[in-house]
Amino acid sequence: MRALVTGGAGFIGSHLVDALAARGDRVLALDDLSSGRRENLARACDAGAELLEGSVTDEAALAEAFERGRPELVFHLAAQIDVRRSVSDPAFDLDVNAGATIKLLERARVAGVARFVFASTGGAIYGEGEGRDLPLPEDSDCRPDAPYGQSKYAAEGYLGLYRRLHGLATIALRLGNVYGPRQDPHGEAGVVAIFCNALREGRLPRVFGDGEQTRDYVYAADVVGAFVTAAERGGAGPYNIGTGVETSVIDLGRRIAAAFDREFEFEPAPARLGEIQRISIDPSLAGRELGWAAGQDLDRGLAITADWFRGD
Ligand SMILES: NC(=O)c1ccc[n+]([C@@H]2O[C@H](COP(=O)([O-])OP(=O)(O)OC[C@H]3O[C@@H](n4cnc5c(N)ncnc54)[C@H](O)[C@@H]3O)[C@@H](O)[C@H]2O)c1
Repeated sequence: MRALVTGGAGFIGSHLVDALAARGDRVLALDDLSSGRRENLARACDAGAELLEGSVTDEAALAEAFERGRPELVFHLAAQIDVRRSVSDPAFDLDVNAGATIKLLERARVAGVARFVFASTGGAIYGEGEGRDLPLPEDSDCRPDAPYGQSKYAAEGYLGLYRRLHGLATIALRLGNVYGPRQDPHGEAGVVAIFCNALREGRLPRVFGDGEQTRDYVYAADVVGAFVTAAERGGAGPYNIGTGVETSVIDLGRRIAAAFDREFEFEPAPARLGEIQRISIDPSLAGRELGWAAGQDLDRGLAITADWFRGD
């Protein structure tokens, strides 16, 4: 099939492009390379995928992407993903995460796209999980604690609207904390990448607060499987794409250190204001309706990621 992957030069997007190109799809990645890297697509481009450099906020770039790619499937992953930036510049965050999604939905509708799959967030859309029954299912209240989660929630609203109003087959995937090779260790999120990079460089990773904060870690290849399956099977969603398992920062650090054959030592740092204490998301609906489940064992996934950071 012909597929457009926005954010295709990024961490998750490039793995998705690899998977689509490997199965013979004609893939066009649209990315402004603000955090993505051309190198991430080197193998996919050898296999026939194309990269178009441009922003999803730019109508001219979108027009070119739809003209060149003539997509039957749209995977929309390009986003402003920096939570702190979303707090300091919420209008920019909204423009990229919700505004550009509306522009893409409109073009997808006009082009008669078969499926539109959107990367939403399971880690930031529900808000604080402490005091709630974890893991949270999709019908839990969405009470985002930052503009990032709110703009993704707004975008999800438009996906639902385009489904009702125009019959466009839209699906939102609420991703847990995704980890794996190619994740940017210089972002503020991506604790696995940040810890792996620190250990590789012989530095102590910093742990904020008591380190008991929990997240739902899901491996990138499993997430790619969810995108591919959602595009094949459809379904109204939104779907939680996680494991349902909580892992604390300290526990994660120990596991990553073990992958580097070390004890986990860290530099304590003050708790970060507004940081969620606990979250995990219930993936049963994706299991029932998409036949999807996360398959990667955490220690094995961390070992592969550690190897990648070491350059093995
Ligand atoms: N990594 C996670 O744990 C996680 C969790 C939940 C949701 N998500 C979502 O998954 C998607 C991919 O995230 P990722 O972790 O791969 O991050 P990433 O930063 O590696 O990927 C995002 C990509 O989008 C590109 N991009 C940013 N703004 C753009 C714009 N205006 N126009 C075109 N391209 C633009 C970047 O250059 C980058 O290649 C995002 O939508 C993110 O919100 C990620």
